[in-house]
Amino acid sequence: MGSIRFGAPHELIQLLRKQFSLRTFVETGTFRGGTAAWAASCFEQVITIEASETIYKQTSSKYADIANINFLFGDSRKLLAQVVSALPAPALFWLDSHWCSEQITYGEKDECPVLDEIKILNASPLDHFILIDDARLFSSPPALPYRIDQWPALDQVFDHIKAGPYEKYIVISEDVIIAVPKAARRVLAPWLQAINTRTIRLAPARHKGRLRHGLGLIRQGSDLIIRAGLEKARSLKFGR
Ligand SMILES: C[S@@+](CC[C@H](N)C(=O)[O-])C[C@H]1O[C@@H](n2cnc3c(N)ncnc32)[C@H](O)[C@@H]1O
Repeated sequence: MGSIRFGAPHELIQLLRKQFSLRTFVETGTFRGGTAAWAASCFEQVITIEASETIYKQTSSKYADIANINFLFGDSRKLLAQVVSALPAPALFWLDSHWCSEQITYGEKDECPVLDEIKILNASPLDHFILIDDARLFSSPPALPYRIDQWPALDQVFDHIKAGPYEKYIVISEDVIIAVPKAARRVLAPWLQAINTRTIRLAPARHKGRLRHGLGLIRQGSDLIIRAGLEKARSLKFGR
């Protein structure tokens, strides 16, 4: 599955945007708006949906000066269909709406709407680019405080994607489930392979660094023990 990454994969999104001339970025789960603000700097149009009214108000006023972001308040399952039906061309979807165990975020009793979001995208006549964040939460039961029964397993996510009208190229990289039109495989597969190769080549150097750090800590620890032992022996000898 690869490493865990926090935030949207900017390089991947830029690659897809450029190669496939994508103009619209749609996000479910706005939260603090960092991804929407970044996307607005490269896409013509950004639409972001947030179910927590407090977060929606805070974030939409924080970024009120960015003209090409459309902040929507509501449940993605209610709003996404309208958004999708208004799209004139395939768009990039960043599906990231779920409860994130922070108190102000929506979803404590309704943790993950992703399967319904996929069903909505499947009803579109267009072949969209879909990125789903936090693959680790689907690939194995999510850590507490998430509830296991609230999260679909990875095979359910895949089955829903496969139930769509278009054949997709589906992979997982850096904690993101990537489901893109089959034709995108030609571009994406070599790009991901280059990243994976670089990661593997760097790994031994990283391990060496960690090993050196660990040995340093052991040396410091043993110095402390030896020094404490000497102090003790001295105090016994001189009755201090
Ligand atoms: C992981 S955060 C989103 C992070 C953001 N996309 C980013 O890249 O920085 C999840 C957000 O989704 C919102 N959320 C949860 N369920 C939702 C739903 N059904 N519809 C819309 N937003 C939802 C939460 O309130 C929270 O703000």
